[in-house]
Amino acid sequence: MLANKRILLIISGGIAAFKALDLIRRLKERGAIVTPVLTRGAEEFVTPLSVSALAGSKVFRDLFDLTDEAEMGHIELSRSADLIVVAPATADLMAKMAQGLAGDLATTLLLATDTPVLVAPAMNVRMWNHAATQRNLATLQSDGIAIIGPNEGDMACGEYGPGRMSEPLEIVAAIEAHFADGPLQGKHVLITSGPTHEPIDPVRYIANRSSGAQGTALATACRDMGARVTFVTGPASVAPPEGVEVVAVETAQQMLEAVQSAIPADAAIFAAAVADWRVEGASEQKMKKTKGGFPTLSFAENPDILATVSQGSDRPALVVGFAAETETVVEHATAKRLRKGCDWIVANDVSPATGIMGGSENDVTLITEEGAENWPRMGKDAVAEKLAARIAAALEA
Ligand code: CTP
Repeated sequence: MLANKRILLIISGGIAAFKALDLIRRLKERGAIVTPVLTRGAEEFVTPLSVSALAGSKVFRDLFDLTDEAEMGHIELSRSADLIVVAPATADLMAKMAQGLAGDLATTLLLATDTPVLVAPAMNVRMWNHAATQRNLATLQSDGIAIIGPNEGDMACGEYGPGRMSEPLEIVAAIEAHFADGPLQGKHVLITSGPTHEPIDPVRYIANRSSGAQGTALATACRDMGARVTFVTGPASVAPPEGVEVVAVETAQQMLEAVQSAIPADAAIFAAAVADWRVEGASEQKMKKTKGGFPTLSFAENPDILATVSQGSDRPALVVGFAAETETVVEHATAKRLRKGCDWIVANDVSPATGIMGGSENDVTLITEEGAENWPRMGKDAVAEKLAARIAAALEA
């Protein structure tokens, strides 16, 4: 999909610059032509020689380089690319971009270009959360610049939180989505999938039989139709598809947080089998057998992710829920659509006799405002393709 696509990769000065080397490798593997630009700061973290060797290209570093200007002027450099990727983008570079400064080669290229730009921020969590950075982010987004990440996690500086640059394969997925051709091109689709695990103690948990097959098939179908897909998955037995942004979680509470940080989205599909309850006060130590008694577990209600998003302020234009029922499927699912406040419900009968949960086929009824529409029994891949096509049509309308 990236064969012969020309990518101008701007690497700025942060510890995440080392990940840009892997990004170059992944892009080259997929046939992209990568032209690297290093800021002064970036050279403190990666050497021009290693960048040039991996990219198989000259590295551009200096605004006032006569040789470079003679070979290819900086205006031409910025315009001959199909996409400009800034990875990592430091807080400083984002601020300069938001202000339209052009004091070095990287910022000049970014100001002189009419090529689409994708930015992968990377910085300390406090810098990311700072009002100034959030202001700059909003400015860049309203200027039409696409942003990927940052991810939440342990940071090189020893702190924890949002600020880690997206992984190279996630950035590749966003780049592929940018070039993908299809009815969901340019749309961001958020999908939850798989079961959740609710801990009882450090070694035991409550789970369910969801394999994640239907959610994975949906992510694949939406990706193939050109969407940028954020795939929030519990511990599923089916591997997540390539080319989507995967956020792995365990519990319902973690799933809600991951979903909220992935919004805004154009459409959200809630295919996960979320545990309705969690064990209240899960034990920090492994629970031991005691003579003369069984442990008593008390439960707390988990957040309803579908209802929270459906009724939230940043609601995606189309919200699709699933309803796993074992009796009076249409009645229950119709009531569920209204109760949760979503647009559509994909209802299915998960009674053991149907073989649907954990199986490869699905027998669904789509519940919309107009009523119930029974689909013939078909493979989960086919259900996914049909649903993705319906979603594309609804977003077009
Ligand atoms: N769901 C969710 N968060 C929860 C529970 C469910 O987001 N805590 C979503 C599921 O992903 C699915 C839909 O809600 O899209 C319906 O899930 P289901 O388990 O069928 O419904 P429940 O809310 O559990 O309702 P009931 O107990 O009445 O079956």
